[in-house]
Amino acid sequence: MWKKIFSGMQKNDDASDKSYLDELVQDQLPQHVAIIMDGNGRWATGQGLIRTAGHKAGVKTLKRIVKTCTALGMNALTVYAFSTENWKRPHAEVDFLMNLFSEYLAKEIDEMDQDNVKIDFIGRTWELSKGLQKQIADARHRTRDNTGVKFTVAVNYGGQDELLRMVQELAAQSQRGMIKPEEITAEMIEAQLDTYGLPPVDLVIRTSGDMRLSNFLLWQTAYAEFWFTDINWPDFTPEDFGRALYEYCRRDRRFGGLSKK
Ligand code: FPP
Repeated sequence: MWKKIFSGMQKNDDASDKSYLDELVQDQLPQHVAIIMDGNGRWATGQGLIRTAGHKAGVKTLKRIVKTCTALGMNALTVYAFSTENWKRPHAEVDFLMNLFSEYLAKEIDEMDQDNVKIDFIGRTWELSKGLQKQIADARHRTRDNTGVKFTVAVNYGGQDELLRMVQELAAQSQRGMIKPEEITAEMIEAQLDTYGLPPVDLVIRTSGDMRLSNFLLWQTAYAEFWFTDINWPDFTPEDFGRALYEYCRRDRRFGGLSKK
């Protein structure tokens, strides 16, 4: 059934127009999909273009995947847009990416709001430019009551940095006598993470061939399924996304227990 649903869904299709998506069985979908959008640079180089052209093309893919999530009634999508380590890239590329995030918000906010998407950003956003911080705050505020896809963009995000901040906060609370170390629970840890309020990640998708987590959502992916593809992010289609979901549904998720199948 899933194959039928996604077959014929081409790169430029507007997923929201596909009534056949209604056929999907909602309770089989992952609650939370996290995507490492890798391979923009390789895609561009392969086309004889400069690396930044790959990031630009990557925005189009992202737009289509968010639309597909909306059409599927997905609960949460989190994408890795810029890591705490990405500052090591050449200045020009970093500047290009920051401008791209800003342009993306400016251009897409209206449509995402209309699509009932709830936008959030995680990571050390307070270190971004004042202009981008304002756009982020506005996007969060404007879409805060939306009940559709919870779409989270990780910018200046690192999983280890997030865990470090959580430990520092709980240690400070303990020092102030608010909690005893032995009283700390998994729920209290989760309440300090940037992703508080989101379900655990069910499925991680990484494009472009590398098979690693690269410091993305280290706590939240404890029991996630992983799906890797050699396709570069700009070439990743809603149909490829559908294949990942289809394969996810066939996995036997035991969470350390025994198979129910
Ligand atoms: C990894 O590809 C991609 C990034 C570091 C940037 C991701 C950004 C986008 C997809 C742009 C759209 C995002 C938003 C939120 C508007 P790479 O450059 O590491 O590729 P390579 O491994 O082939 O060099």
